[in-house]
Amino acid sequence: MEQDQLKRMVAEAARDEVLALPAGQVLGIGTGSTANWFIDLLAPHKEHFAGVVSSSVASTQRLLQHGFYVLDANAVTELPAYVDGADEVDPSGYMIKGGGGALTREKIIAALAQQFICICDQSKQVATLGKFPLPIEIIPLAQGSVMRAMQALGGNPCLRLIPGASNPFVTDNGGWIIDVAGLHIAKPAELETLINQIPGVITVGLFTQQKADVLLLGGPSGVKRIVYS
Ligand code: A5P
Repeated sequence: MEQDQLKRMVAEAARDEVLALPAGQVLGIGTGSTANWFIDLLAPHKEHFAGVVSSSVASTQRLLQHGFYVLDANAVTELPAYVDGADEVDPSGYMIKGGGGALTREKIIAALAQQFICICDQSKQVATLGKFPLPIEIIPLAQGSVMRAMQALGGNPCLRLIPGASNPFVTDNGGWIIDVAGLHIAKPAELETLINQIPGVITVGLFTQQKADVLLLGGPSGVKRIVYS
């Protein structure tokens, strides 16, 4: 089965899961190709929700095209659930996110949610995080110092560029992204705290405080539902 079909399958499972929530609430929705499937499949049922909060300009545009009522994150104090993909998920539900560059807003919205429903194809499930280069959103002025700090931690940092161009990729927040390859992340929670403390770091794409509560994982034999404690 192709990866895109698996993404569609988990998005369908997530749609069914959120439609089982009491109606009239506001739902958090993430960013990326799997989240796009989720948005498209949820669209016919949008009236079930009072509105949605989105983690990126791209997702907001897609949601508005479908006629969803999109609220600012500041307009809500709590969400029953946040549905989003991930780049890697480990056996504790800890994740690497930010392949699409939306990690900061994703973390903010995930922190508002009672549960993080992660939707992934099986290629994202790993024993140890770090094969996928770890994204870090930074203040541009801190590029050099953050890259040196990551080299000191044994990583191989690289400034993310706009595909096919030589200028930096700029996030929805005006930040830049450093992707750090070569990390074998044995202690994700400790590393998240450590990197968060480096001056100029806006957000590191390690999600341990905002880990997955439920993982809907798509494979050739169907969708597996994993619940983390
Ligand atoms: C966006 O910044 C990311 O965190 C995405 O959630 C992650 O990269 C997964 O994307 P796909 O669903 O496109 O694989």
